[in-house]
Amino acid sequence: MTDVAVRRHTELCKELHRHNHLYHVLDQPEISDADYDQLFRELLDLEQQHPELRSVASPSQRVGAAPLEKFPAFEHARPMLSLENAFNDDELREFDTRVRRFLATDQQIDYVCEMKLDGVAVELVYEKGRLVAGSTRGNGLVGEQITENLRTLSSVPLVLQPPFPELLDVRGEVYMDLAAFQQLNRTREEDGQPVFANPRNATAGSLRQLDSQITTKRPLKIYCYGLGRLEGADVASHFGALQQLQEWGLRVNLEHTHLAHGIEEVLTYFRDVEAARENLPYEIDGVVVKVDSLALQRELGEKTRTPRWAIACKFAPRQAETLVEDVRLQVGRTGAVTPVAQLRPVEVAGVMVSRASLHNWDEIDRLDLRIGDRVVVERAGDVIPDVVKVISEQRDGTESAVPMPTVCPECGSPVSRLEGEVVPRCQGIACPARLKESIKHFASKGAMDIDGLGDRYIDQLLRLDLVKDVADLYTLERQDLNQFERMGDRLAEKLLQAIASSRQRPFSRFLYALGIRHVGTHLAKVLARQFGSLDELMPATREELLAVHEVGGQVADSVIRFFEGSRNRTVLDKLNQAGVIPRQEARLAGGPLSGKTFVFTGALELFTRKQAQEMVEQLGGRAAGSVSKKTDFLVAGANAGSKRDKAESLGIEILSESEFLQRIEEMKQP
Ligand code: IVH
Repeated sequence: MTDVAVRRHTELCKELHRHNHLYHVLDQPEISDADYDQLFRELLDLEQQHPELRSVASPSQRVGAAPLEKFPAFEHARPMLSLENAFNDDELREFDTRVRRFLATDQQIDYVCEMKLDGVAVELVYEKGRLVAGSTRGNGLVGEQITENLRTLSSVPLVLQPPFPELLDVRGEVYMDLAAFQQLNRTREEDGQPVFANPRNATAGSLRQLDSQITTKRPLKIYCYGLGRLEGADVASHFGALQQLQEWGLRVNLEHTHLAHGIEEVLTYFRDVEAARENLPYEIDGVVVKVDSLALQRELGEKTRTPRWAIACKFAPRQAETLVEDVRLQVGRTGAVTPVAQLRPVEVAGVMVSRASLHNWDEIDRLDLRIGDRVVVERAGDVIPDVVKVISEQRDGTESAVPMPTVCPECGSPVSRLEGEVVPRCQGIACPARLKESIKHFASKGAMDIDGLGDRYIDQLLRLDLVKDVADLYTLERQDLNQFERMGDRLAEKLLQAIASSRQRPFSRFLYALGIRHVGTHLAKVLARQFGSLDELMPATREELLAVHEVGGQVADSVIRFFEGSRNRTVLDKLNQAGVIPRQEARLAGGPLSGKTFVFTGALELFTRKQAQEMVEQLGGRAAGSVSKKTDFLVAGANAGSKRDKAESLGIEILSESEFLQRIEEMKQP
């Protein structure tokens, strides 16, 4: 064995361990899956040539990484295996050849083909039909126990449909639909929180919340695809098992599961899926192929970490190489200046791409990106692709650094980067780019919902100097709009109507429409429920704001700063004079459960945790995730554990589900 091989092996192990940690523990991958797979393959090849290199510490002997310390460890009764990958037709045919050689048969094999969803693998344990535990895969042997979080998914049944088995371990993938993921990121962006890189990260981040109340707000779903232990029921084939799981009430992607006779049919199906993948509501990264007969699966058995009876056929990554022709600056509603790479147009998996988001200057530094560089772009879940890597070997010295702006590209005002923020911001209050974005936001669906007021009209309003702030929208007249290009009488009338009818939106929407930093749709509702109207909210002190659940220092300061701004006050006055009087909202203080905090624990039967929380919140109460001195009631289902003990020791009143329902009925009485 050569020194070179030893050195490369050490290097690869170190790199792979690092990327494992970044991916599995921190949810912050630095390289694409394809690049990771390539490193991993190099390691496997090297170890095949020099088996003496293979040690227990090699990443080839282990998958995943240690679970985070904060959740209790959960040992899987049967290991949750991983899958080997096939990247082309030949590798898939080789898999079939291996299967048949092992079984010593030349008969064609039946294979079940499933979507390979790109999410987080979990296990659910049902005892006597009740969900008793849920966990992540972790390293395959031990994962994290995240039962409470998994219970928040409405697609996870808390009890199975009879006749159910004595014991069932079911495995599946938790994921997020693309549209839901994009919406989540939009909200996060508005709230000033960092966005998730892709649906998989968003899913992992949501499942790993210690507070299940956060998880419950995330649009997570599950598809079940396999079994661990099964007692008290019998299945003979994998396809039969999937159908059975569905009958027990579990969510199975049967619509996109195909039973193929022989490997050539698998190949045809794979090509069909690859062509149709854009039309699916979720991200997939391939097709999983499994031997259908469970008897044959048992005969084939497994290697250390992967079964011999299944393989993942991966799609070619949605990446392409191109040139960064320029980097342009985009100014958002809050003045945030973000760099966007202008690319030489290139096709990435069927879509022409000419721009890529660079997010901020930290990202540019991390990539070491310069104008004129050749780069790899990848489409992952979002419409605008990301630059994943710079091909620095191809530089010829003509590339130039991307300068950090000192003045706004739109209005020339100074730009500065506040401490702790990742983007520089334009400080110009009259910046046309900011004004345009703030009008767009004001008129958008979740805000004042002014139908028809999009980019085209806003541009013209600004160009003709008809609006200087959002209040000017309400004094527009017919003859103003007549100056627009291609604007007939009917259209003008419709737009004026839409503007007029937005005068009385609920207060929470109005609050959101104002675009106060860190106040997204959710916090706007929270504040509106607490204060009811602008007259109550405007004079609120920092302490009063902080007393509201979910409002922290950052939000409180931002709200106060907004109302202190004299320009903002002028706009609010103008809005008021123009008859924009938002509808007052039912105040929290008026709710019958106001001031009461509930915690739910154990297996609930009469309602889901989410439903219970909604009931409490609708009546003005608060649903918390953990028991503390502030808890008023603990509602305990079957198998309530440590929370019940804690509530007892604190002398907190404990209710059964039906007592809870009765109690809230009583409280509703005046
Ligand atoms: S089967 C022994 N089926 O892919 C069987 N896995 O690389 C092991 N995945 O950890 C898994 N969709 O997170 C299976 N239909 C599917 C899947 C699937 C996604 C993920 C799962 C697993 C990884 C294996």
